[in-house]
Order: sequence, then C-alpha cells, then structure tokens
Amino acid sequence: MDEKKKTHLGFIHQFIPSNNSKGNSSTLLLLHGTGGNENDLIPIARMLSPANGSILSPLGKVLENGMPRFFRRLSEGVFDIKDLKFRTHELVDFIENASKLYSFDLEHIIAVGYSNGANIASSLLLLHPEILSTAILFRPMVPFIPDTLPNLISKNIFICAGKWDPIVSRQNTENLFDIFKKAHANVSIYWQKSGHELGQEEILAAKEWLSHHIS
Ligand code: MLT
Repeated sequence: MDEKKKTHLGFIHQFIPSNNSKGNSSTLLLLHGTGGNENDLIPIARMLSPANGSILSPLGKVLENGMPRFFRRLSEGVFDIKDLKFRTHELVDFIENASKLYSFDLEHIIAVGYSNGANIASSLLLLHPEILSTAILFRPMVPFIPDTLPNLISKNIFICAGKWDPIVSRQNTENLFDIFKKAHANVSIYWQKSGHELGQEEILAAKEWLSHHIS
C-alpha cells in the first residue's frame, strides 16, 4: 500500500482488499491489544475467514510508555471513559472514511479484537451499533456501563474468555455477556483453557462460529 494511503484517514493502518472473486462483501476490522500493531492480527484474520473478505487494521493512536493502545487507561482495567468514548467516535469516522476510500460495504463489518482492541470493539457496539454486524472479542472486559442499552438485535457476538485470565475475571466476562444479552444480541462465550494469551482452540471455535454467521 502506498505510504500516503497508509497514514491517511487519521490512523496508520493496513487495508487488504478482498481477493475473493465471488465477492465476499464482509470486511474484518482488526483491533490489536496493548503494545501491538496493525499487523498483529492479520494471521488470525486469515485463519478465521478463509473466504478472504477485506481487512482493515488500524494502529491504536494512544501511547502508554511507548505501547500503542486504542484509548487511555488510568491503571490496569481502569479506563479513562471520556477518552474511550472520544476514541470510539474517532474510530467510527475512520471506518466510514476508509469505506469511501477503499469502497468496502459498511453493512458487513466484522470486528476482531484482542484485549484492548476487544474493549474498543465492545464500546463500538454500545455507542455505535450500526457500524458492526458481528464481533469476535478475545479477552474483552466491560468497557463502561452504558446509560441506556443500545438495540443489538441483529448483532452476532462471540466472546472468547480465558478460564484463568489474571486480567479479566470470570464475573467481568459474565457482566459483559449480560449487557449484550439484555441488549438482545445473539451472544455466546467460549471458555479457553488459558490465561490472557490466545489459544489455538478458541481461534478454531471462532472460525467455526463465524462460518455460521457470515453471509
Ligand atoms: C490490556 O492490557 O490491554 C487490558 O487488559 C485491556 C485494556 O486495557 O483495554
């Protein structure tokens, strides 16, 4: 990708167009974890979606001791909610502008987020549900308690949690599940036998789940 395009739109990012001639219209929005970058989740996206839709993968703009993130936090698991909401709106603008530049369909965006990236994906669902059709959230936690629940009736959400995650408690995962459930999303949780790190089985489980939820 030419460098101008890569830094254009306010976020350094990767965009990989669909190579599926049958015209898979979905776009995977990849959102990396703290200290990651826009290339991290591309191999996982390839495993999740053999149909090869397009990929849009921004680099988080907030730096914490040099580590990129998608929004500020005050300490581990304690978020700067004002910044989180601001960054969520900013990410929506980026996605909308990217869809014009690269001509992808805004109706079929599937978020794939890990940790901090999963948290901003949850925030997108709560504040701008129109922007995502589907979300695969690896190690998410409740980003904030919404004042009013959005209507997530047609949204498919797959949460992958770590059984022994030292960062996200079981209770926090279940609270997030309950928020999505109360908002009428089609949500499920997969419990991976691991900590905060990703395991092979959950990627295969997410792939299988996605194959039933992708059009
Ligand atoms: C992280 O390390 O990224 C946290 O667990 C999640 C967050 O801060 O958003």
